[in-house]
Amino acid sequence: MAPPVRPRVLVTRQLPGEALDRLGRHVELRVWEDELPPPREALLELVRGMDGLITLLTDRVDAPLLASAPSLRAVSNVAVGYDNIDVPACTARRIPVGNTPGVLTETTADFAFAMLMGLARRVAEADAYVRAGRWRTWSPTLLLGADVHGATLGLVGLGQIGAAMARRARGFGMRVLYVNRHPRPELEAELGLQRVDKATLLAESDFVSLHVPLTPETRHWLGRAELVSMKRGAMLINTARGPVVDPAALAEALAQGHLGGAALDVTDPEPLPLDSPLLQVPNLLIAPHIASASHATRGRMASMAADNLLAALEGRRPPHCVNPELFL
Ligand code: DGY
Repeated sequence: MAPPVRPRVLVTRQLPGEALDRLGRHVELRVWEDELPPPREALLELVRGMDGLITLLTDRVDAPLLASAPSLRAVSNVAVGYDNIDVPACTARRIPVGNTPGVLTETTADFAFAMLMGLARRVAEADAYVRAGRWRTWSPTLLLGADVHGATLGLVGLGQIGAAMARRARGFGMRVLYVNRHPRPELEAELGLQRVDKATLLAESDFVSLHVPLTPETRHWLGRAELVSMKRGAMLINTARGPVVDPAALAEALAQGHLGGAALDVTDPEPLPLDSPLLQVPNLLIAPHIASASHATRGRMASMAADNLLAALEGRRPPHCVNPELFL
């Protein structure tokens, strides 16, 4: 008897951990081996005839891609954010979409807080200063920064990562304000947080840290007017998505000295071109979208993405599904 036909699955990059080996025991795998994402035309070609697709946030899954993949039955993103995926288009085709919430919360908050500390205390500048041979003596005015303890942190979004950031901030004796669609009274009671409106958060925070998904409502949530309304000398930390901030307005606010600095793990676009005005200002700390990049967490994300995909291919609801209405 011929062996049963196994579902065909495309994975758009090598993944860390056990996920690919495990997937390979259940499905016929095709892995894009390059370090860079498959170019659009290649992706459209590769998805033809696939039953399942494991994507990264750099792969756009939209109506034209779905049209190229008439047999597609499952999409699984190796990220908690899924702004690269047209979810309504997938839902219209009855394709479940999985994501990876929870497993990256603490790792991402660790990095967001590291960016806040690094920016406030000028860690990258200090390192560059020493390596450039400029360290000649101890000086009372050298590389002065901002205190973190006792400062006010404004959290934009109080989901899992925002809440994890709040816990870290309270450990450092910070006052913490937040804006969120819904109040979080249990966190207010536990951590002494205060829910305020957007204008108050921007006017009173010494540090503003972004923890919202990218949606039509959050795109350019921080535009020129909002940046100008921030407290003079305040610092911005973005580990969410680049387009939540207007990059041209941010470069201006930094260059004019209205903001004390910005720490960006995410930018618009990614990667940031080397001639971007943002890279011309000195008070910018930048990283290449690595907030969730610990060995353990990236392995767990890949594993969760594999679980989501295998469930969807078997007709079950993925453990983490962003269009659960398909299973009602
Ligand atoms: C996500 O998961 O959405 C991050 O941006 C990458 O970890």
